[in-house]
Amino acid sequence: MAASSSTAFLLKNPSNTSNVSSFKNPTFHSHNGYFFTPKRSNKPISITCSTQVQNPSTTTLPNSQSQDRVFNFAAGPATLPEKVLKKAESELYNWRNCGMSVMEMSHRGKDFVSIIEKAESDLRSLLNISSDYSVLFLQGGATTQFAAIPLNLCKPNDSVDYLVTGSWGDKAFKEAQKFCNPNVIWSGKSEKYTKIPSFDLLEQNPDAKYLHICANETIHGVEFKKYPTPKNKDGILIADMSSNFCSKPVDVSKFGIIYAGAQKNVGPSGVTIVIIRKDLIGNAQEITPVMLDYKIHAENNSLYNTPPCYGIYMCGLVFEDLLEQGGLEEVEKKNLKKAGILYDAIDESGGFYRCPVDKSVRSLMNVPFTLEKSELEAEFVKEATKEKMVQLKGHRSVGGMRASIYNAMPLAGVEKLVAFMKEFQARHA
Ligand SMILES: Cc1ncc(COP(=O)(O)O)c(C=O)c1O
Repeated sequence: MAASSSTAFLLKNPSNTSNVSSFKNPTFHSHNGYFFTPKRSNKPISITCSTQVQNPSTTTLPNSQSQDRVFNFAAGPATLPEKVLKKAESELYNWRNCGMSVMEMSHRGKDFVSIIEKAESDLRSLLNISSDYSVLFLQGGATTQFAAIPLNLCKPNDSVDYLVTGSWGDKAFKEAQKFCNPNVIWSGKSEKYTKIPSFDLLEQNPDAKYLHICANETIHGVEFKKYPTPKNKDGILIADMSSNFCSKPVDVSKFGIIYAGAQKNVGPSGVTIVIIRKDLIGNAQEITPVMLDYKIHAENNSLYNTPPCYGIYMCGLVFEDLLEQGGLEEVEKKNLKKAGILYDAIDESGGFYRCPVDKSVRSLMNVPFTLEKSELEAEFVKEATKEKMVQLKGHRSVGGMRASIYNAMPLAGVEKLVAFMKEFQARHA
């Protein structure tokens, strides 16, 4: 059914419009089989920046930015390296004198094929990916992989193991329930997702087709520092690395599949990267939609249908930049330094700030923290925004604050945040 631009639709029950959201504050519900589209008005729409940081306060803090950019602590889509953005800007209109933008190129033409091939080759260099693995550039976000993985690796009655250390692992488990027989072998939910268990205590099912983990829980800030050895008979470990992809070296050979949405560490939203051991390809359930079948994408070098061309190009620029920085060992050193400064500031605040996550598994990428005086949290976010540090509000499901400090967050951004935190504490302690 096509949605009208002037009328709100409640598709299943046109008479019940009580929950239809207003245009000013649209929400989309897709529960219980009911779908709403927000009311549209025919008035012209003007688009403006909601944070409006052109006139930051004059408080002097170290490393204040002279440029017209903010320090963006968003969890994703997230900050991208300025160098990459500038390069993309310079090539946007006319890519390398070919007379058109990457957005306008045929995905099967020589130019785009060179772009995707270089992106893959640079990613292979960064992560030292052997020829036993396919690298796929897909669409649908990491969320789509929650379904694609069981569909490709399992028959409906097969058992699989999920180690759930946060909301994303839980979502992956719930989606798998539609396609196979998943079992949660450990969940950190009762401890508010602040821990990772000792691997010796895990009761893995030897008949499971795979063991699934979320390597870094973006919302809760819990990150695996080492990985469990899968005890299933095929020894398959699968990791959602959406929020720590390319933040440190990873031994890819320990995994059956690594997957990641690009929009945190390596590019814009719209690209999902799947690194899959080749022998796991080709066993999809018959009902698997063609767009979720790894075999189709692997055989067509990610060009079965029109891929997210511009996003892949941007990922390629990020990979190039990471290689120029000296590769993932160097990137990890920078990430350790940034996270260290921030966690120290929290731990040394005498309880004014608090990070709930077990110290041994604190994420280098997403740093959640609360204020002892929770009534000050809104003020903290407001004042930080004035100082050009944005998107510090924690995820709505956990509250508090969260600073996402992905690869592209400069050290200066973290130093500025820490200086602000100290100054805020001095004023409010
Ligand atoms: C760890 C993790 N997994 C999965 C997802 C879902 O990704 P997408 O929105 O690309 O489907 C996210 C998104 O934030 C995430 O952080």
